[in-house]
Amino acid sequence: MAAIPETQKALIIPEAGSQYTLIRRPVHRPSPGDVLVKIEAIGLNPAEDYLLDLGVTHVVDRNGDVKDQITKLLNGAGIKYIYDAVHTPISQDEIDFLAPGGRLLSVVDVPKTLRLSDGREVTSVCGATQLFKDTGRALFAKLPEFFEKGIIKPTRIEKIEGGLNGILVGLERLEAKQVSGYKLVVVPSETPEAN
Ligand SMILES: NC(=O)c1ccc[n+]([C@@H]2O[C@H](COP(=O)([O-])OP(=O)(O)OC[C@H]3O[C@@H](n4cnc5c(N)ncnc54)[C@H](OP(=O)(O)O)[C@@H]3O)[C@@H](O)[C@H]2O)c1
Repeated sequence: MAAIPETQKALIIPEAGSQYTLIRRPVHRPSPGDVLVKIEAIGLNPAEDYLLDLGVTHVVDRNGDVKDQITKLLNGAGIKYIYDAVHTPISQDEIDFLAPGGRLLSVVDVPKTLRLSDGREVTSVCGATQLFKDTGRALFAKLPEFFEKGIIKPTRIEKIEGGLNGILVGLERLEAKQVSGYKLVVVPSETPEAN
């Protein structure tokens, strides 16, 4: 039998709302009659925990077969409203998930080649409050209440030290796909004076 190692890897969340941190913890020493099980691998998706915490009811793995996962979830039903805040461009698959009369809102331009039927609609939305001042004023007046009531939840952020010098560090982390589910921010006024 292999010797029991002194320590093991552990993923912990140091405080509420923070990221997972990889540490080493002592391995529990089994007493007579105990069984110690060695786990070789686990599937873990930190983003899923975060999304469920925000109130999301179903999470699909964007690295898997998204169409297949959503088809299974819908089980033949259609979606009344889709708000796609990510995709460039919107695909026909998404349109086909709409129920008759359903509507897809997109933050990017909508291709003209999409086939729409049975009252399905696709609309581009524009969040430029400088263009739609009345809407902007009404929205900003409501924002404190929306935050207080949790209707809008602020994005999680991680501050990178070093002012503007932190941007290169942040870009390298983004390129290495080490940032997900939160935004990196720098504070320009904290940039050290150049010598
Ligand atoms: N119409 C408008 O008024 C308007 C205004 C602003 C922006 N936009 C457009 O909106 C889009 C998003 O902008 P943003 O500022 O929100 O960008 P962002 O800050 O980069 O956020 C993108 C979000 O999408 C997620 N994401 C990335 N790839 C995904 C995938 N394949 N499946 C599911 N989620 C994915 C990211 O998750 P991770 O954190 O896990 O990476 C992140 O949460 C861009 O195309 C932008 O040009 C439009």
